[in-house]
Amino acid sequence: MAVGEIKLKRLLDILYAPLYIAADIVEIIKEKDKTTPTWLKLLAPVLAVGGLGIFAALSFVQAFVMTAWFGNPLPVLGFDQSPEQPIHFPHTIHAGVGPLIDEDTGEPYISPSGDMRINDDGTPMQGLGMDCTYCHKQVIERAWSGVPPVELCISCHKVIGDSDNMQLTKLRQKGLYEETKSPINWERVHRMPDHVRFNHAPHIWYLTENPNAIQNKPVDFETLPDGTVNASKVCSTCHGNVAGMEQVAQVQPLKMGQCVACHRANEASVGCETCHH
Ligand code: HEC
Ligand code: HEC
Ligand code: HEC
Ligand code: HEC
Ligand code: HEC
Repeated sequence: MAVGEIKLKRLLDILYAPLYIAADIVEIIKEKDKTTPTWLKLLAPVLAVGGLGIFAALSFVQAFVMTAWFGNPLPVLGFDQSPEQPIHFPHTIHAGVGPLIDEDTGEPYISPSGDMRINDDGTPMQGLGMDCTYCHKQVIERAWSGVPPVELCISCHKVIGDSDNMQLTKLRQKGLYEETKSPINWERVHRMPDHVRFNHAPHIWYLTENPNAIQNKPVDFETLPDGTVNASKVCSTCHGNVAGMEQVAQVQPLKMGQCVACHRANEASVGCETCHH
């Protein structure tokens, strides 16, 4: 049995324990029916109902743990894989293409502050369609993709954008004015456990050369004349449609099963040391 499975079995035993205990109590009471004092008979249904209540609560905890184990945790209690950022940075406006319409509602995107992504004349805003690699430059060469320095943002936002936009005011304080300059501490959205090794570059190279292996293809997906694709067209495989996210969330489980399945399908190494230190 794999280590993961053993751990899982132990966890299930613990989670089911109250149910076993409740069943035992019922058995004992049945057996001793004749000799049981009345007070215990009266208490029995209370214990049973209480046991069921605890079981229901634990089932919920269990569902949460199980989904977190095999995929993304249920989107409750703030575990929605989308942390609050110091500045609300919309990928929609920057990386999105065409009119910024939410596929689910058919309406223009609404920012977390409640503003609709519409122009003064009421038409949906157009995304700038910036390449992912314009900001996440290192992703092609390095393990670590990284988030752009504030100077890159300021190269545009020195002039672009209303002066009464709260988010842009925060951005200019961080990057434009000498007195208040400081790096932006973006919250991590994706993070592998410490025992896992991940490296962007080889994945980007492989996928740009082998477009058939790309998953969740973006709307503006196209292959170049030589059959390869631009680096920005491969990210959706593991990150989903980031260009359409008002706030980045982790939408793929990125658990071991998913990594290994893709490695098998593409004849990449599945030896433990490939991904573990
Ligand atoms: C204008 C610059 C810019 C462009 C263009 C851009 N990003 Fe980002 N990206 C950022 C910034 C800033 C953050 C950090 C803030 C956040 O998470 O929202 C970020 C965060 C992310 C994250 C989450 C990182 C983490 O902490 O796990 C992913 C994934 C990502 N971007 C993917 C993409 C993809 C894919 C594209 C192209 C479709 C793209 N980005 C285009 C600036 C950019
Ligand atoms: C190529 C130019 C360019 C770069 C680089 C750029 N932006 Fe923008 N950004 C824009 C444009 C254009 C808009 C839309 C402005 C408008 O609504 O008038 C915008 C809008 C915004 C807004 C306002 C969103 C809202 O809610 O209205 C924020 C915040 C923002 N950008 C943050 C950033 C950050 C942070 C970076 C660096 C990681 C960045 N931008 C890099 C061009 C750029
Ligand atoms: C094969 C899956 C895969 C592909 C393809 C992929 N990523 Fe990632 N990305 C990950 C994983 C896994 C992490 C978390 C890494 C960690 O915690 O060590 C991550 C993390 C990130 C981060 C957070 C900072 C960092 O480097 O850890 C950014 C930004 C990011 N990816 C951007 C991109 C962009 C842009 C592309 C496309 C050019 C892309 N990724 C393609 C799997 C992928
Ligand atoms: C889209 C399919 C795909 C997914 C998903 C994927 N991989 Fe890979 N990975 C590959 C391929 C193909 C290679 C071999 C690339 C090459 O060297 O040509 C590779 C290579 C690697 C390497 C070796 C890099 C090196 O330095 O040589 C590591 C480490 C790795 N993957 C880790 C991961 C982890 C961890 C995950 C899950 C978070 C993951 N991969 C998800 C396809 C994938
Ligand atoms: C292609 C990449 C990849 C390969 C190959 C791989 N793993 Fe993993 N493994 C991961 C990732 C990513 C995680 C963390 C996410 C998760 O918990 O599923 C992980 C997690 C684990 C965990 C912790 C599980 C847990 O639930 O905490 C164990 C144990 C483990 N791997 C053992 C192995 C062994 C043993 C092998 C070789 C037979 C192996 N792995 C091969 C990617 C890989």
